[in-house]
Amino acid sequence: MEPRAATPPHDEHPAATGEPLRCLVTGGAGFIGSHLVDHLLGGGHTVTVIDNLSTGRRENLPAEHPGLSFIHADLEGALTDLEDDAPFDRVFHLAAAVGVKRIIENPIDSIETNILDTAALLRFASGHSRRGAPLPPTLVASSSEVYGKGVSSPFQESDDCLYGPTTALRWSYAASKALDEYLALAHHAEHGLPAVVVRFFNTVGPRQIGDYGMVLPNFVTRVLDARAPQVFGTGAQSRCFCDVRDITPALPTLLSTPGCHGRVFNLGSDQPISILDLARLVIDTLAGEQGVGGLEPELVPYDEAYSPGFEDLARRQPDLARVRDAIGFAPKIPIERTILDLAQHLRTDAAPSGAREGYAHP
Ligand SMILES: NC(=O)c1ccc[n+]([C@@H]2O[C@H](COP(=O)([O-])OP(=O)(O)OC[C@H]3O[C@@H](n4cnc5c(N)ncnc54)[C@H](O)[C@@H]3O)[C@@H](O)[C@H]2O)c1
Repeated sequence: MEPRAATPPHDEHPAATGEPLRCLVTGGAGFIGSHLVDHLLGGGHTVTVIDNLSTGRRENLPAEHPGLSFIHADLEGALTDLEDDAPFDRVFHLAAAVGVKRIIENPIDSIETNILDTAALLRFASGHSRRGAPLPPTLVASSSEVYGKGVSSPFQESDDCLYGPTTALRWSYAASKALDEYLALAHHAEHGLPAVVVRFFNTVGPRQIGDYGMVLPNFVTRVLDARAPQVFGTGAQSRCFCDVRDITPALPTLLSTPGCHGRVFNLGSDQPISILDLARLVIDTLAGEQGVGGLEPELVPYDEAYSPGFEDLARRQPDLARVRDAIGFAPKIPIERTILDLAQHLRTDAAPSGAREGYAHP
């Protein structure tokens, strides 16, 4: 049996527990990372972001903020430059080549980014001891993809992971994230690094872009253009979507809770919706938009959308008991709210650099 963590409130802010913290966020200009940066800056902490802007955008971050340092660089080199700087109190590792589509299109670069950068980041965090500094609680972003095509549902953190053959590139994303998890847990075991692994399920919200195959921004973009959302396969496959603004406050809380260190957590929503129903919900929610009336989802075979023989999962749902017990996690934002805020963000996406979209952070 793994130890049970104490139960602080889910929205406990690290600022409430003491001094402002010095935080490192890799991939902080990306979708989840930039919301986390907003949350940390809002709590009075200082944040260093390392991001090579491969999929992230500088505009996702405040143009200027006294607590924010932005390093536009590849992770590994930037970490070497930070070796002599003041140590960090918290490390959030979100930089990665994200999504199955990107991995299929750029396999070498993606596999190397996901494994080698995580190895460098964990060596950097554990290396704090060489400088006589405490080891920083360190979060490693993993993915529900790690479960592979396991059939038990909902997925529990202790479930087996099941992948297809190595000739099917699709599984390399899952395998690379699984190796990241092994590395994080090994640093916890060998060096005492207070590492926490978080398996994100489908996370959605403003600033997510559709370029890398993310389903909700793709649907919303097409519907705003008065075009039918494209559903791959039959659309019967189901997923659970959680708003990023429910997710980000949980990340510092997991790191601030000692009972969470050395453990793996599912994080997301546990309310499934089929992809066909999601497409219909986007149409209904944005029905007031010009040209949306009369739209119907369009079905596209997987072979056409990805590559011949692509395997998708029929259902992907997390068991949230562990994260609920550990930090009282309970997502609150309804998916219709997320769709409306994402649509507003996409409509104003052409706003000048530095403009902040007008939706409220919780
Ligand atoms: N969004 C989701 O639903 C989801 C689901 C599962 C897992 N995740 C994981 O969460 C993390 C964040 O994902 P996201 O959705 O915000 O994606 P994202 O693409 O918006 O963020 C990733 C960020 O990392 C940066 N980056 C990539 N390679 C880098 C490198 N070598 N050096 C420096 N920066 C680099 C990118 O520019 C980007 O800003 C990733 O680790 C991803 O695997 C996300």
